[in-house]
Amino acid sequence: MRAIMVHEHGGPEVLTLTDLPEPEAGPGQVVVRAEAIGVSVVEAHMRAGILPIPLPAVLGVEAAGQVVAVGEGVDPALVGTAVAGVTGGAGAYAEFAAMPVAMTAPIPAGVSAVDAVAAGAAGAVALGLIHKAALRGGETVLVEAGASNVGGYLLQLAREFGAGRILATAGAEGKRELARSLGADVVIDHRQDGWTAELGDAIDVAFESIGGASARGVIEALTPGTGRMLYYGRLSGEAPAITPDDLLGRGATLVGCSGPAWFAEVFTVRYPEVFARLADGRTKAAVGLTLPLADAAEAHRLVESRGVTGKIVLIP
Ligand SMILES: NC(=O)c1ccc[n+]([C@@H]2O[C@H](COP(=O)([O-])OP(=O)(O)OC[C@H]3O[C@@H](n4cnc5c(N)ncnc54)[C@H](OP(=O)(O)O)[C@@H]3O)[C@@H](O)[C@H]2O)c1
Repeated sequence: MRAIMVHEHGGPEVLTLTDLPEPEAGPGQVVVRAEAIGVSVVEAHMRAGILPIPLPAVLGVEAAGQVVAVGEGVDPALVGTAVAGVTGGAGAYAEFAAMPVAMTAPIPAGVSAVDAVAAGAAGAVALGLIHKAALRGGETVLVEAGASNVGGYLLQLAREFGAGRILATAGAEGKRELARSLGADVVIDHRQDGWTAELGDAIDVAFESIGGASARGVIEALTPGTGRMLYYGRLSGEAPAITPDDLLGRGATLVGCSGPAWFAEVFTVRYPEVFARLADGRTKAAVGLTLPLADAAEAHRLVESRGVTGKIVLIP
């Protein structure tokens, strides 16, 4: 099968199209013949070594297609069904990918593999975050990187789940316009130094995905005593530069949204929920563009240029 491998961390040019044997389904796994493969900044960070992975490896986290084989302990009736899923690490930039069955969900009739990949994991994470936030009616929320995949789905969901005022951040004007169209009342350009000064001091819930130095300014903008920060990403490549004393002085709560327990809920509960929402139109998939699998390096250049809005999807 054709697969995109990484032998050493580096720029997009380290992505190499290779011929490999098809993977076998291990215990608890299914093998999926991919029809659509997701590309995100996470894999760019894995490729670059910001989120190091054991090498050499077939890069890639998320794919959708048809189950062609099941491993020990998996219902053989799954063969032939359409699913989307994540590998739990690497292996998705290929014609066939092995995935834990627990990290897959059936794709309902009427939802394409491309839409399932565009909205699946990002939408499920956004749903997980919105449930975790347990918004009280009318609360003010901040969605950082509101034109990112997860950020965009958070904006689609926030009002429905009880948010009052919605602030978002985004880069170029086109991205800021998108964040407004998805429901943000105020959109701040997060490329400007000191952008957190525009937040005021009454953010009830901040969905923190940028990390780095700006996170302290976000803590300082939380509603004293009740404000909470849900930390789920570090687009800047750096962990939030905050200390326990930043929380102490504000009476703020920091909620970590990653790790095995988090992903168990995201994939067993929220993944099917997002597909049900796609099927009945409550959630809209945001597809940026599709490219052939062989153009994975170009896909990474585009992700890193921050010029594409919506998910980049590779087609094997
Ligand atoms: N914890 C979890 O369960 C979980 C799951 C999935 C993803 N994540 C994390 O969630 C974050 C978003 O993931 P995604 O797939 O939605 O990302 P994505 O769509 O690939 O994000 C791309 C966007 O992020 C923004 N961005 C990139 N670098 C940035 C920087 N240095 N500072 C601020 N914004 C920057 C850019 O927006 P502009 O062009 O508007 O600047 C870019 O368009 C990532 O950090 C990822 O690791 C967490």
